[in-house]
Amino acid sequence: MKISVIPFASAVKQEQVEGKTVVVIDVLRATTVMITALSNGAKEVIPLETIEEARAIYHKMQDPDMLLCGERNAGKIEGFHLGNSPLEYTNSVVENRSLVLTTTNGTKALKACIGAKEVFIGAFLNLYALVQAIHESEEVVIVCSGTKDRFSLDDGLCAALIISELASKMEIAADDLGHVLLNCLHTDHQNLKDTLKTCSHLNFLIENGYGKDVDFCLQLNTIKIVPIFTHDTVRLRS
Ligand code: MLT
Repeated sequence: MKISVIPFASAVKQEQVEGKTVVVIDVLRATTVMITALSNGAKEVIPLETIEEARAIYHKMQDPDMLLCGERNAGKIEGFHLGNSPLEYTNSVVENRSLVLTTTNGTKALKACIGAKEVFIGAFLNLYALVQAIHESEEVVIVCSGTKDRFSLDDGLCAALIISELASKMEIAADDLGHVLLNCLHTDHQNLKDTLKTCSHLNFLIENGYGKDVDFCLQLNTIKIVPIFTHDTVRLRS
């Protein structure tokens, strides 16, 4: 399998993803939120880049079961129903609801992948299930969402674990960044938080009171679903 890694959302170029199998990762916290929400019964997640687009879709749809969700600078957006904490997306809150979601980097990364053959949503929570879903692909592009146009170690570590898991099953040919990540992988998988202790977005979240979110996002393989992004919407695979 050929594997390439893109370090952050704004680095995605159309030709790198066009027609390819793509995995989008935003461990802290957008893809973790999507996986959690769908696993807790949400009908769909509609990712949008801007707050204005999110508000416009919400008002246009006039759907009483729709929730407006997302963050800027990690905090809930004024007038929105939910922020970007996976702990908010419980079954009683999201079951059978459509979620319109805008986040700083994660939803931007997803939108950059329009034109791909298929786009899977990944995080630590669903890592093994994700590997099962992509392991027969000839070529995979892993898009790390990063943070504000910069690489973020949480996504990089998740990409490294995906590559390592794939490499344990088959011959892989990773690109340079894929190799760097794989070679830096010194973790026993049980101690992801320790490995990420210098990660700036992780520390930003902790300093801003989202420590419980961080602990939730760093759980490995607790969820078996692998959402896909298709027709502008993130859903469970049918
Ligand atoms: C994002 O999409 O930028 C993030 O998920 C930021 C956050 O942690 O809320």
